[in-house]
Amino acid sequence: MKKKIICVIGTRPEAIKMAPVILALKQEPWADVKVLATAQHRHMLDQVLTFFDIKPDIDLDIMRPNQALAALTARLLLAIDEVLETEKPDVVLVQGDTTTVMTVALACFYRAVPIGHVEAGLRTWDIRNPFPEEANRVIAGKLARWHFAPTEGSRQNLLKEGIADRDILVTGNTVIDTLLMTAAKPLEITVPLDDSKRLVMVTSHRRENFGEPFRNICQALKALAERNPDVQFLYPVHPNPNVKDVAHQVLGAIPNFILCEPLDYAPFVAAMKRAHFILTDSGGVQEEAPALGKPVLVLRDETERPEAVEQGVVKLVGPNYDLIVREAQRLLDDDKAYGEMARGVSPYGDGLASKRIAGTLREFFS
Ligand code: UD1
Ligand code: UDP
Repeated sequence: MKKKIICVIGTRPEAIKMAPVILALKQEPWADVKVLATAQHRHMLDQVLTFFDIKPDIDLDIMRPNQALAALTARLLLAIDEVLETEKPDVVLVQGDTTTVMTVALACFYRAVPIGHVEAGLRTWDIRNPFPEEANRVIAGKLARWHFAPTEGSRQNLLKEGIADRDILVTGNTVIDTLLMTAAKPLEITVPLDDSKRLVMVTSHRRENFGEPFRNICQALKALAERNPDVQFLYPVHPNPNVKDVAHQVLGAIPNFILCEPLDYAPFVAAMKRAHFILTDSGGVQEEAPALGKPVLVLRDETERPEAVEQGVVKLVGPNYDLIVREAQRLLDDDKAYGEMARGVSPYGDGLASKRIAGTLREFFS
């Protein structure tokens, strides 16, 4: 009899990183794969599902405008429990560190359903940073049966927390599977750009930066754009109102600053390839950009992805006005400093992570 595997996705990055796992498992004759979309994100999730031609078998349609964490968690827990009761899966796969992941892990624990955690073992060791993601991944890690760690460093983190070595598999990050699959296709940037100008990409959405820190980031971006009229800045703005309203207020009227809606995945990859460098607080972008040879300035004080920092291709600048302006200006003016960061290294994966995950489950169920 086939084994029922439910692959859960809630937000844009979960869909991007779970898509190759779903595709790999669908090749396995022993696996009955179901996709559960909590739709913690709506539009941004649908963008990715359409691109990968994935149709959820179950869609909880949970997102509400400007949702609060407690209300989101409560709605999710009850809805997921109902799915577990009806579907009775043999295993549930979650990816990353969102509220969807933490809640699914808890719901599965209550019903004794084993979970596999994709992108396991990322840690800053500061429970409030990033908020609430560090707590989400610690909880999911405590409850998981299989830990699919992207790097040796994440494996070591899990061992430090007392997870048994036999339950951890270093797979690489599935985001590189997705990136390589996508970058091989013809890509087009869907935003009109001036080909004669260099491009700087920006993304930012972290909850711990809301308020003053995010205002500092926007003020630094404004100063950079005004000082460098020969450079264009492209910022696909996250729809969270705490981000969107401030970004448009501070950056909306600057001629060389393009604010746009979130880009579909393929145009976003195309824009990253075209960019000179990238300013971001995104986890996924920190993993993708080094593989494309693009320097990254991270708009946070810490990162759970230290590998690229250690290799010198990613630098932390925090939500700190002076550091952001200084380091970005250096990358625009200093070719040597730029060259040292634009080396093209891929510490997060080789494109085969999803196959390794499918292989582990195949072995277990045979
Ligand atoms: C969530 C995750 C974060 C992840 C990020 C990826 C949590 C607590 N946070 O943050 O870890 O890095 O997704 O982007 O799990 N919205 C829309 N349309 C969309 C998506 C979001 O309008 O398609 C707006 C809604 O007003 C929604 C708000 O953004 O209420 C916040 O969404 P939520 O998923 O709670 O938090 P994110 O900041 O997106
Ligand atoms: N991304 C995208 N369109 C955009 C911005 C980002 O497709 O306009 C992709 C990006 O390539 C990466 C993922 O979204 O794979 C990152 O998602 P996000 O920054 O929302 O979340 P995080 O990775 O920080 O959890």
